[in-house]
Amino acid sequence: MTTSSSPVGATPSAGSPGAFEVLDACHRQTVDMLARLSALVGGLDKSGPDREARRTADEIIQFFSQTARQHHEDEERHVFPQLQDSDDPEIVQAVLRLQQDHHWMDVDWKELSPAIAAVADNRGGYDLEALREGVEIFTALSHDHIALEESCIYPQARIRFGSAELQQMGREMAERRRVRSARTANAGGTGS
Ligand SMILES: [Fe+2]
Ligand SMILES: [Fe+2]
Repeated sequence: MTTSSSPVGATPSAGSPGAFEVLDACHRQTVDMLARLSALVGGLDKSGPDREARRTADEIIQFFSQTARQHHEDEERHVFPQLQDSDDPEIVQAVLRLQQDHHWMDVDWKELSPAIAAVADNRGGYDLEALREGVEIFTALSHDHIALEESCIYPQARIRFGSAELQQMGREMAERRRVRSARTANAGGTGS
């Protein structure tokens, strides 16, 4: 799988990416972030994280706490509902599994994120072996999830969606990003 640094969240207009291009770009970013997360925890030792590792930990937290959650919301609002009443039981089963995956990825990230935040803040106090094991599980689940979406659900959704539906989906996704960015800027933080 390739990685991309394309921004996830452009407003759909002439020359801008469409809804599925935004979703695909987020998958590439997720794969990239998972690789960085694995490298981060693999490189930690008793001497603690250096400045680069702390900055990486901070970026990983921002991504999985904001961008990845936004991506799940996009799929749950726009993609899964279109397919869960499919005549094909395999498609219905795949949607159920993907919905369940989102729940477990959320649970996994809530367990991992305090330790990653401790790395970002150089606080220590986490169990490194447990962290590495948790990252391995989270990474494997995320890769399997993306593979199922890209091999089964996204192609089916692309077939089902008309151009008007795609445009509407792209507009709603862009609007949610705009509102969230404005809210984050007003709160004085950083967002995606
Ligand atoms: Fe998903
Ligand atoms: Fe996805």
